[in-house]
Amino acid sequence: GQGVLEDGHGRRFYYLRLSVTDACNFRCDYCLPEGYRARAGEAAPLSVAEAATAMRAFARLGTRKVRLSGGEPSLRADLPDIIAAARNTPGIRRVAVTSNGYKLPKVIDEWRRSGLDQLNISIDSLDAAEFARITGHDCLPRIRTGIDRALELGVQTKVNAVLLSDGATERLQQFLDWLRDTPVTLRFIELMQTGDNRDYFASNHLRGDTIERQLIESGWQLLPRAIDAGPAREYAHPDYRGSIGLITPYSRDFCQSCNRLRVSAQGKLHLCLFADAGLDLREEIRRGDVAALAERIQTLVGGKAASHYLQQGQTGATRNLSVIGG
Ligand code: GTP
Ligand code: 5AD
Ligand code: SF4
Repeated sequence: GQGVLEDGHGRRFYYLRLSVTDACNFRCDYCLPEGYRARAGEAAPLSVAEAATAMRAFARLGTRKVRLSGGEPSLRADLPDIIAAARNTPGIRRVAVTSNGYKLPKVIDEWRRSGLDQLNISIDSLDAAEFARITGHDCLPRIRTGIDRALELGVQTKVNAVLLSDGATERLQQFLDWLRDTPVTLRFIELMQTGDNRDYFASNHLRGDTIERQLIESGWQLLPRAIDAGPAREYAHPDYRGSIGLITPYSRDFCQSCNRLRVSAQGKLHLCLFADAGLDLREEIRRGDVAALAERIQTLVGGKAASHYLQQGQTGATRNLSVIGG
């Protein structure tokens, strides 16, 4: 039978974020400014079969949506097999990927054929030169071609833009111009402090409510929330085909609507983006014992904290988001 995952604060979890690799080819200033390097003793990421086991255990506990993340998931040549495994897991109804998009035009057709429903792509600036400075990769036009293709294929597409204080007004205007005729959801994500980016955070953090005020003043309206929606707040405007979501982890009630759990590429359960160093599930995953795994997950979820450590100005064990899947 189907269970349900509930923590000690009455929150229910239908959504799993499964990281398929820690590795990334980008060097985003706030995440991996020096690029990715494997840590000593880092185990191989979950195999396709192991990922399938993890997804089956979560599905038994009521999980209905899986988002594959990283690092950069497209660095795995077998990503289409993992998408297909998610698609073929009984109970899973939505399959999503979060990617930096650098291979997108080449891979999107195959991802769609494998069963992809939703795609989130990171673009912090629509200015190609600025994009190249932030990420270390001069490939914005190619990513935009890939997004156009995803929309053609009927993949529901979101674009993530991390809010950065320097040049914010110009960037916001460029995004708004684009949203007039582009049916994507743009999500502004407030920059989060991690163990690795303290100085960068101190000089670049921009509060989400600054942008929110500007949006409301120019006629954007808060949309009603779906019951199982996550922490993002979404806005729409009659003159725009696109919509805007705001992710503001520093706002007080952010964690009340938390609807997701995370499993890292190393097979660790992360109850929160900013908390413990992860609870190891690899042994059960390796054995392929779905029942034992589900039981373990159910027990561990009871210990999920009410809110993340950022609320107390701390970053927990999170050095950067590439190792936990964002
Ligand atoms: P969907 O609702 O499925 O589109 O998911 P999403 O917006 O959470 O997915 P995406 O991978 O695009 O995540 C965007 C980013 O928002 C994440 O990588 C994090 O940086 C941030 N974020 C998402 N969930 C949380 C959360 O639970 N806590 C915090 N602090 N930040 C989050
Ligand atoms: N703060 C906010 N967003 C971040 N991301 C990565 N690191 C951070 C951070 N420190 C974003 C990426 C991507 C998403 C998965 O998480 O830009 O859009
Ligand atoms: Fe890679 Fe994403 Fe980190 Fe950028 S934010 S370096 S794309 S993992």
